[in-house]
Amino acid sequence: VEIEMIGVLGSCNVDYHLAVTHLPSSGQTVSSLGTHIFAGGKGANQALAARRAGAEVTLVAAVGPDNDAKVAVASLVEAGVRLDHLRSVNVETGKAHVYVDTKGENFIVLTPGANRALTIHDAEVAVAAAEDGVLILQQEISDEVTEAALHHSRRKNVKSIFNISPFSASSPDLASLADIVLANEHEWNFLADGSGTDPKLPERWVAQRDQILVVTKGRHGAFLFSRDQSFHVPAPLIAPIDTVGAGDTFCGYFAASIAEGCSLHRAVGCGVIAASLACLASGAQPSIPTRAQVFSAIKSNV
Ligand code: RIB
Repeated sequence: VEIEMIGVLGSCNVDYHLAVTHLPSSGQTVSSLGTHIFAGGKGANQALAARRAGAEVTLVAAVGPDNDAKVAVASLVEAGVRLDHLRSVNVETGKAHVYVDTKGENFIVLTPGANRALTIHDAEVAVAAAEDGVLILQQEISDEVTEAALHHSRRKNVKSIFNISPFSASSPDLASLADIVLANEHEWNFLADGSGTDPKLPERWVAQRDQILVVTKGRHGAFLFSRDQSFHVPAPLIAPIDTVGAGDTFCGYFAASIAEGCSLHRAVGCGVIAASLACLASGAQPSIPTRAQVFSAIKSNV
């Protein structure tokens, strides 16, 4: 089987990660238990996950002329993600202010910075880098760039995997252009206009659009719906430490398995195990498991 290339078009951030005993409510001030700086950004995290899964990956992204840029790319360089099309622009590197409580729950505030400097030309470059393979997209860059990449993928016969995260008003229109839509249960509920718990809706959805829909549900694993098959893969029981980046890890492992020619069932299975392992350590990128860790967890059934 020929292994396909993966292109990722998306964000590259530095995460300012604050551990808190509980997430603050409106008007409340809480003290953090500690601040850590990690590399992050959904695009970069997904590229790294696909690379750690064993794929050949090119990330098309933009960073600023600052020290954060060095932090943001260090693990990508080390893992061998291709960065020939990483642009340095005159806007600060994207930042995420990430708050994680002792149960592993989080919320995130983004400063998009350089991520917004990506252009339609970058979209074309990313599709070309995917070389008839797979293109991964998320929603931390401008919608017009994502839209151009989705249209261009169709023209060039590149399979698009679109992670509608973070969900925005443009997600439904953009999602209609993708081959595979990846959502967590909240994003799916938004996409379904509040009818996300209707058990018949996903199958109707994929039949009408001829798409594949993957809905991840945290500790309940993930569901896949397509015209030919629908199935559920449960997740192993774990005690999460930090769920930041778990969705990105799912996406990267799922995409790498598709690029390798695995069945959809196998691809979702790898994604679920990899995402579960990613919840066992702090930080988006440090917690992304290696292929060896995922395969040994699959063998031992975690
Ligand atoms: O999905 C997790 C990521 O979202 C973090 O790494 C942060 O950078 C935000 O983009």
